[in-house]
Amino acid sequence: MGDPRIPVLAIDGPSGSGKGTVARALAATLGWHLLDSGALYRLVGLAGERAGLAADDEAGHAALAATLPVTFGQTAAGEERILLAGEEVTALIRAETAGRRASEVAAFPAVRRALVDRQHAFRKPPGLVADGRDMGTVIFPDAGLKVFLTASAAARAKRRYQQLQAAGILTDLAVLTEEIAARDTRDANRAVSPLIPAPDSVQIDSTALSAQDVINEVLALVKARSSAG
Ligand code: DC
Repeated sequence: MGDPRIPVLAIDGPSGSGKGTVARALAATLGWHLLDSGALYRLVGLAGERAGLAADDEAGHAALAATLPVTFGQTAAGEERILLAGEEVTALIRAETAGRRASEVAAFPAVRRALVDRQHAFRKPPGLVADGRDMGTVIFPDAGLKVFLTASAAARAKRRYQQLQAAGILTDLAVLTEEIAARDTRDANRAVSPLIPAPDSVQIDSTALSAQDVINEVLALVKARSSAG
């Protein structure tokens, strides 16, 4: 779980629930570090593809996960920049095909184990906002606040569609809706670290909320927890 003295805000939920946007904004507002754990699984999928690994090669993907040469940084304009072995892959790993491959390699227990220490290393002062599927259940079970963000399947597909469009990635809404449903089923039903709300999480349904509404709600919870503790 990393250094228990450093506070963690865990944000878990399915794709398109808005957790990426919310986690990034909360990290910026709180001045805390950000762990985008989904990016790690996306990178393992991409690295596996580049290395020509078969989709069912668990040991091969785990070996890549253990040594993943990744750098998380920012452009001068403050935009996210992710490098894999020195190559910019920020847009590449956001594509829906990368999401599907990520979800497949994320079902391998050996891959998940290989990424644990790397995720714990993000827990640095003054605090960490951790975005994923198993942040509050497996990686940071002692997180001071755990949020489980959901939204209706239709709302999530529409958001992903708009995000991809904004990034210049063309896609079909009906196909995307099916892909997201397949990915969610795989993420929620796998044997290890499935997507489930931690029993002590606060569940927020963002279907009818803006990102800013969710951010405000979570910030109010953070304040209430820190004044209580
Ligand atoms: O959050 P995302 O869409 O970038 O995640 C991509 C895939 O990675 C997702 O379908 C499931 C997997 N994942 C996971 O299994 N555990 C995490 N903590 C984060 C992502």
